[in-house]
Amino acid sequence: MTWIEELAARADAVLPDYVSRYVHSVAGDGACAREGVEDWDALRLRPSVLRDVSTIRTGVELLGTPVASPIVVAPMAQQVAANPLGEVATARGAAAQGSLLGVSTNTGVRFADIAAEGAPWWYQVYLTADRGITRTLVERAVEAGAAALVLTVDTTSLSVEHPEIHPPNWPDESLRFRTGNLSAAEVEAAGAGLGTNFAVGPDDIGWLASISGLPVLAKGVLTARDARRCVDAGAEGVVVSTHGGRRLGNSVTSASALPEVVAEVGGECEVHVDSGVRGGHHVVAALATGARAVHVGRPVMWGLAAGGAQGVADVLGRFRGELETTLRQLGVASVLDLYPVDVVRRGSAGP
Ligand code: FNR
Repeated sequence: MTWIEELAARADAVLPDYVSRYVHSVAGDGACAREGVEDWDALRLRPSVLRDVSTIRTGVELLGTPVASPIVVAPMAQQVAANPLGEVATARGAAAQGSLLGVSTNTGVRFADIAAEGAPWWYQVYLTADRGITRTLVERAVEAGAAALVLTVDTTSLSVEHPEIHPPNWPDESLRFRTGNLSAAEVEAAGAGLGTNFAVGPDDIGWLASISGLPVLAKGVLTARDARRCVDAGAEGVVVSTHGGRRLGNSVTSASALPEVVAEVGGECEVHVDSGVRGGHHVVAALATGARAVHVGRPVMWGLAAGGAQGVADVLGRFRGELETTLRQLGVASVLDLYPVDVVRRGSAGP
């Protein structure tokens, strides 16, 4: 068992079954989720020697925000189900490691309480059918200090196959808050307007930038063509992501899509990546391929469930420690000095 599998087992032991299955859940037969990890595993690093690696630097700026490491907490819904403090605990753990976190539209916690923990944070936007509700939430996130918006563009339907593990159907009502940032009266007034929205287009990127004054990242891009459309529409970043293999069961993986996205838009915007990243060696491979940051999802959720804020800090600290060790062994002193020449697919002779 890897340390992450052990952590998942500890989380499963404390979570209600439907919550634990929700966190594990994958789309289709799970090919994308499985291969999402395997494709990172298939990358090999090309060590350099006779380099001074006495000091390893992991600090980087992400859309203008300085962070201690390029390991970002992915936005995940319903964190109050993993720990009563929800994103407040996640933010506390991220702050302890100098990391940035994404905050889901479907957080049960108030933005101000998350922000008070001191970690930089980005607000993840699910567009609602009634754009007025989205505008209200974005304005509240901006007021609370969100540093960027992450527009999730891959969620045109929820592909959780088993309806009983879908949060709105959970038996414990206190765990299934839709959002801590709308009042009960606002949720009531929104009615069906809160629901998943299929009518999302490139213009929404510019609209979000204009109402917030913040940079917008498009999350869930898997082709050069779509990355181009997002950047042309005003995105300052894209997140190459399969939503952790939770959307399209036989989708291409993030590791396989990253090179073409970097080639298309890497010179114009920040390219981030997530899904299946399970260690510092994966982080290094992703950064060498051209990603500026790597987002981590489930391992953080399991850390939160198993150990609260400290559990989150431990997961991020472990990833960062592995990142530093891998860089030192690779002969590269800074995350900013990784290049495609440092990574090949297993079996290839050279880049
Ligand atoms: C997610 N993810 C997600 N993404 C998003 O944009 N908004 C959301 O509300 C959620 N909610 C969510 C809940 C849970 C329980 C999981 C596991 C994931 C996707 C998330 O941001 C990220 O893309 C993946 O989790 C990354 O893959 P790994 O690291 O979990 O393999």
